[in-house]
Amino acid sequence: MPLNQPSASATVIVGTQFGDEGKGKLVDYLSSKYDIVVRYQGGANAGHTICFDNKTLVLHLIPSGIFHEGCICVIGNGVVIDPNALLEEIRQVEAMGYDVRDRLFISHNAHLIMPYHKLLDSLHESAQNDKKIGTTGRGIGPSYMDKFARKGIRVVDLLNPEVLEEKLRDNLEAKNKLIKNIYDTEEIDVEAIVREYSEFDEIINPYVKNTQLFLNKKLREGKTVLLEGAQGCLLDVDHGTYPYVTSSNPTSGGASTGSGIAPNYIRNVIGVCKAYMTRVGNGAFPSELFDETGDKLGRIGHEFGATTGRKRRCGWLDLVALRYSLIINGVTEIALTKLDVLDAFEEVKVCTSYMLDGKEIVDFPTDDQTLSRVEPVYRTLKGWNTSNAEARTFEDMHPDSRAFVHFIEEETGVPVSCISVGPGREETVFR
Ligand code: GDP
Ligand code: IMO
Ligand code: MG
Repeated sequence: MPLNQPSASATVIVGTQFGDEGKGKLVDYLSSKYDIVVRYQGGANAGHTICFDNKTLVLHLIPSGIFHEGCICVIGNGVVIDPNALLEEIRQVEAMGYDVRDRLFISHNAHLIMPYHKLLDSLHESAQNDKKIGTTGRGIGPSYMDKFARKGIRVVDLLNPEVLEEKLRDNLEAKNKLIKNIYDTEEIDVEAIVREYSEFDEIINPYVKNTQLFLNKKLREGKTVLLEGAQGCLLDVDHGTYPYVTSSNPTSGGASTGSGIAPNYIRNVIGVCKAYMTRVGNGAFPSELFDETGDKLGRIGHEFGATTGRKRRCGWLDLVALRYSLIINGVTEIALTKLDVLDAFEEVKVCTSYMLDGKEIVDFPTDDQTLSRVEPVYRTLKGWNTSNAEARTFEDMHPDSRAFVHFIEEETGVPVSCISVGPGREETVFR
C-alpha cells in the first residue's frame, strides 16, 4: 500500500455558526463508533456540554469522547492548554468514575496558556471602550499571539525544567513591561510562576505524546478518527466576522493543521447547526431578535454560556451565513440541533437573504462593518406546536417540523443526516 494512501478515515465535526451549536453532545454520541477523538484548536474558551444518565458535564479541553471507555482522546498541537484547567477537568472526569490516564494524550507541540495570558486578555479587553470583543477571558488570544510571535511555551517545555525556566523568565520580563508600562497594573511575581510551572513535569508527563505521528500511525492501521472542532465557522480568525472572532481556525481546514492529520484522510465533514441562532460576545448578528421571541428562544433553549455563564444573544436561523459555512468547511452533512426549542412556536422564521443598500444579496459579508448594516429577509414557515422530544425516527417527527428540515436541505443542497431533539445522548434522530 502506498505510504500516503489512507486506509481509514477521519471525520470532522465543525460548528457552522457562532459556537455552542451542540457539538459536544454530537461528538459524545458519535464517539462510541470511533477509535479516537481529537480536539484540534481553541482552548478552555470552549464549553462542550454532555448529558447522559441524568448527569451533565461541561468539557473545556478534554475531547468529548472521554465517556466512552474504548475511545482514545487526543488534545492536538493546535490547542492552547491551560495546565491548571486541564488537571481540574481530569479530576472531574475521574471523579465520575472514568479512567483518563491511559486514554488521554496531549500533543508535545501544543502551546500553553500562562497566567499572564489570562491577565493580558482581561487587561486588553478592559482598555477597549466600545470595541470590546467580549472574549471568554481564558487567555486564548494572547497565547496564540505568543505562538505566532515564536515566543510561546509548549507542553514539551514543561518536561525540561531548565528550558522552561529560561523561557518563562524571558517571557515574564517582556510581559511585565507591558503590564506595568502600558496597563499600569501590578507586575506578575516571576518566582511564583517559575515555581508553580516547574512542578508540572511529573504530573503532565504521562499524557504527553507526539500525537501527530501517533494519529497518522493509527489511521494507517485502519483506526477511525473524529476531529472535534471548538467555536464555529463565523468565529474563525480567517473566515469569521473579523475582528469579532476567536484567535484560531475552528473551520475544517484547521483540523488538519491542528492535529497533523493530512487533509486526504478527511472524508466527511459534519456541520453542526442550531435550528435557530445564538452568539455570545460582540459583533454583527443580522438575524438577532431584540423582542419577546428572542427572549423565548433563550428561555426555552437555556441559552447561557457553558464557559462564562453569559446570556447568549438569540435570533432566527440564518441561511446566508449557513450556506457560507457549508462552503468554507466543505460540509458533507448537517447535524441540526435543538429543533425541540422551536416546538412551542406558532410560526418559525428563517433568513434566506439580506438587503444591503437597497439590493438583495445572498453572499455572506464577513467584514463586521458590512454585516452590521444588512437587513435580513425572512421566509415564514408554519410552526408545529407539538413536542418532538420523544421522536427517535424522522417519521416520528411532526410533518411541519419535517417540512422545516426539508426546507433547509433545499436551500443549502446539503442533507440533514442527524436531528437533535433534546440535550440527552439518546434524544437524537438519525436518517
Ligand atoms: P457546544 O459548545 O457546541 O458543545 O454547545 P454547548 O454545550 O455550549 O451548548 C449547547 C447547549 O444545548 C447545551 O446546554 C446542551 O446540553 C444543549 N443541547 C444540545 N443539543 C440539544 C438539543 O437538541 N435540544 C436541547 N433542548 N438542548 C440541546
Ligand atoms: P464552543 O466550543 C461560543 C467567543 C467569545 C468571543 C469570541 C472571542 O463552546 O462553541 P476568545 O475567548 O475565544 O478570545 O473570545 O469568541 N467564543 C465562543 N462563543 N462558543 C465558544 O466555544 C466560544 N469560544 C469563544 O464569546 O465573542
Ligand atoms: Mg459551548
